[in-house]
Amino acid sequence: MNIKGCVAIVSGGNRGIGEAFVLELLEAGAKHVYVGSRDPQNAKALQEKDPQRISVLCLDVADETQIKAAAEQCSNVVMLI
Ligand SMILES: NC(=O)c1ccc[n+]([C@@H]2O[C@H](COP(=O)([O-])OP(=O)(O)OC[C@H]3O[C@@H](n4cnc5c(N)ncnc54)[C@H](OP(=O)(O)O)[C@@H]3O)[C@@H](O)[C@H]2O)c1
Repeated sequence: MNIKGCVAIVSGGNRGIGEAFVLELLEAGAKHVYVGSRDPQNAKALQEKDPQRISVLCLDVADETQIKAAAEQCSNVVMLI
């Protein structure tokens, strides 16, 4: 899989293994990474590490309405973690 230049989304990306995936994707040359977080405030510090390439969105993967909203907002995503 070619990560360089890709657009990815990581749910639960605000901490733990999700945050590690976000940082590794950026290190590997991802063009943009959407960080899904139940509370976007919890991903602020992470976003500040690379504000140009990280966007944070509110995403609880148990909430169908939020899933649909994320799918619309992130229609350019080619990689889902
Ligand atoms: N850490 C590892 O090395 C490792 C290795 C292999 C497998 N795993 C597995 O990977 C998973 C995550 O591990 P972790 O260590 O990163 O755990 P963690 O530090 O507890 O982080 C869990 C993440 O999932 C998010 N989350 C929980 N429920 C959610 C929901 N309904 N919608 C969206 N996000 C939700 C949390 O968000 P909030 O901040 O909002 O709670 C948090 O960002 C676990 O199942 C673990 O068993 C971990």
